[in-house]
Amino acid sequence: MLNTEKNNNPKKLSGILIHLHPQSVNEKALTFNRTFGLGGMAALLIVIQFITGIMLRLYYEPFPQNAYDSIHYLQSNVLFGQLIRNIHHWSGVFLVMIAFLHLLRVFFTGGYQSTRKVNWIIGLILFILIIASNFTGYLLPWDQLAYWAVTVGTSLLDYIPIIGSPLKQLVLGGEEVNAQTLLIFYNFHTAVFPILILLLMAYHFWRVRKAGGIILPNNSDEKNFVPTYPNLLYKEFIVALALIAVILVFAVFFNAPLLTKANPDFSINPTKAPWYFAGIQELLMHFHPFVAAFFIPAIVISFFLLLPYLKINEEHNGVWFFSESAKAAATFSVYSALILTPLLVLMNEFLPKFETLLPSINSIITNGVVPLIILILIIWTYYKFVSKKYQLSPIGKVQTLFVFITSAFIILTLIGIFFRGTDMKLVFPWNV
Ligand code: HEM
Ligand code: HEM
Repeated sequence: MLNTEKNNNPKKLSGILIHLHPQSVNEKALTFNRTFGLGGMAALLIVIQFITGIMLRLYYEPFPQNAYDSIHYLQSNVLFGQLIRNIHHWSGVFLVMIAFLHLLRVFFTGGYQSTRKVNWIIGLILFILIIASNFTGYLLPWDQLAYWAVTVGTSLLDYIPIIGSPLKQLVLGGEEVNAQTLLIFYNFHTAVFPILILLLMAYHFWRVRKAGGIILPNNSDEKNFVPTYPNLLYKEFIVALALIAVILVFAVFFNAPLLTKANPDFSINPTKAPWYFAGIQELLMHFHPFVAAFFIPAIVISFFLLLPYLKINEEHNGVWFFSESAKAAATFSVYSALILTPLLVLMNEFLPKFETLLPSINSIITNGVVPLIILILIIWTYYKFVSKKYQLSPIGKVQTLFVFITSAFIILTLIGIFFRGTDMKLVFPWNV
């Protein structure tokens, strides 16, 4: 029920809330499925990370001799130590997913245009910082999982031309993961990234307010404003409670992983990168590293950065998917990716490879250029077919392509996490 009292002394916001919210909001902005509260959830998760992170920091020691034991001590001897660690672990996982879903929400409602362009870029930087925070945190327990996942994760840098190897050395503070790496990661994780995230988040919120709140359909002229408190705040409160409840359930029932102490001389098998890089690691199984770890990610990042500046907007304002035909095409693209991606993975796994058939030709051609051309042809044919089938406008075409490629990438990530076993061979999840 809306509280529409406007003049008879509505309750005013005060304190920190006044910086986050205006006194009144457009009634249309209150509909839950406009945003699903995802931005707010991301903010809450960051606050949880900060609080639990500071608690962990009280006991954690960032040196290879002590790091693992300090986590062990925390888990077994400190009151609620295991629970705090679990909350930090699960909020970290949820944060990556929720921030990504928020990105998708902004994309599909066209919230990246005109006055919101800069905020889209700020959001992208926040997303990269969240991944970087997760990645640096991953190393800190200094167990076998941490050591080898970071070894694989940082080895992806080697494939960036020219600057790749020096960059890797800079990140690791040497040739391989060592004591210096742990100290660098610790400082970035507990100081540099949190400060950057805080500053950018404040700026992100300020820009949302400056743009007049979230994006709404053009026909919201009959501006019907209602007091933020209680109308919006009560909803935010319920979403926050639900999220906290879900995290607590995970934290109580599933412990953050801790294998045996890191041993640089003995790698675990399979050696997997952290889960958010599993899609790229899966691409490496099918393409030359230059294509998988550099070319394809570079194209994807460039697309995201350039998106607000492509001339495709057609006043795409606040309406999910812009049109019914684009929505139907997007659904079709999810199903197509669901069928095509595993099919291509299986074909590549079990059919003879060009690299083996033509050993005399450089592998950048047989394992890089040739499969890439085949992939581009498949995507192009699909694009032409769907654009015609659904009579798509330019924005519809971009969305369809985006849904197709994003779904394929999510499926690759799931294959990497759940279907790769010893020696990275394809297996069923119960055999991983
Ligand atoms: C965006 C914010 C953050 C994210 C995404 C994040 C993520 C993570 C992750 C994924 C781990 C590994 C946990 C595990 O599974 O073992 C971790 C560990 C850790 N984090 Fe954070 N963190 C964040 C902020 C912070 C802050 C602000 C601090 C302290 C000031 C902090 C301190 C620690 C410490 C001491 C550990 C090692 C303890 C452990 O591994 O359980 N974190 N973090
Ligand atoms: C730390 C992570 C982030 C936090 C805490 C955050 C928070 C928020 C909040 C609270 C809003 C208001 C509306 C809503 O809840 O959806 C918002 C809007 C927005 N966010 Fe984020 N965001 C984050 C990451 C991102 C990312 C990854 C992107 C995209 C690349 C992004 C782009 C935007 C844009 C363009 C808007 C304005 C959209 C509109 O007006 O409809 N944000 N953000």
